[in-house]
Amino acid sequence: MPLLDGFGRIATDLRISVTDRCNLRCTYCMPAEGMTWLPRADVLTFEEIDRLVRIFVSLGVRTVRLTGGEPLARRDVPKLVEMIAAHDIDDISMTTNGTTLAKHAHALRAAGLERINVSVDSLLRHRFAEMTRRDALDSVIEGLTAARDAGLWPIKLNCVVVRGTNDDEVVDFARLARDTGYEVRFIEFMPLDADESWSRASVVPSSEVIEAIDRVFALERIVRGTEPASVFRFADGAPGSVGVISSVTEPFCASCDRIRITADGQFRTCLFALDEIDLRAPLRDGRSDEEIAAAIAAAVERKWAGHRIGARSFVRPSRSMSAIGG
Ligand code: 5AD
Ligand code: SF4
Repeated sequence: MPLLDGFGRIATDLRISVTDRCNLRCTYCMPAEGMTWLPRADVLTFEEIDRLVRIFVSLGVRTVRLTGGEPLARRDVPKLVEMIAAHDIDDISMTTNGTTLAKHAHALRAAGLERINVSVDSLLRHRFAEMTRRDALDSVIEGLTAARDAGLWPIKLNCVVVRGTNDDEVVDFARLARDTGYEVRFIEFMPLDADESWSRASVVPSSEVIEAIDRVFALERIVRGTEPASVFRFADGAPGSVGVISSVTEPFCASCDRIRITADGQFRTCLFALDEIDLRAPLRDGRSDEEIAAAIAAAVERKWAGHRIGARSFVRPSRSMSAIGG
């Protein structure tokens, strides 16, 4: 029974936040201080997550991504990867800030993780520190090397581009892609920052990013399946790729196949959804898999057409990115 919504979309990609905690404080995500973390008892156990994955797979989910907060801030995450990889899915992946990847890369690979997405917003130490409020670029670079050594591949870099902050580095990121074979994905800044400093003026349109790179390294568009990113290869055949995720200027809501679970077991059909359904209570109240599956299917049926960032009617979700799960 596939998870079909009222707009003909089928949800097959499940993102699971395993913790809301993080050791960085990216300005476009968290406040500098004063984050309150979920009480541990509210966070789903690995067994609860595993059971949900089984239910979601029975509903047609094919790919799973682990997110946070910072997923590696939770103890024993490789164990969870192993549990999830045992299900009948096509792909399991993880989005991490990379700061502790050097320590965990081999265990993750051994547990069945094949590839990894690492968030890197600047290649300049001082600017990285400014954007994440922690001086951690060196440990991320170490993490990337360790991931490659462990056989986690491809390595994708996520770079949130913020006007006047790191938009002068897009060509440097493209050069890094060519030198390393990494796939760099530039993400438009979305109104999910805890500080609520987002404004339309701080968004760098993806088209501008691609034009800037194309002036230096000619690009050719690659046509791909359902990935929300538009991906380009280098016309001269250099390795790596660059891509853009235009969530603000060209939303991909019409083909969205994503659904999400927060660390505390709330089911969200959209990053920007204003409502959630609680899966933790039914899990803990002894509900059957069928009852939980029915609640999930009903929520997907009600999924909205999409966010309307920029419209006057746009309302920010009450959780910021780290609490929803990228
Ligand atoms: N806009 C765009 N991307 C964001 N991320 C976090 N907050 C935002 C935001 N406001 C990204 C992180 C990470 C992924 C999980 O989400 O950089 O790559
Ligand atoms: Fe942490 Fe990711 Fe949020 Fe940065 S964007 S503070 S790395 S959860």
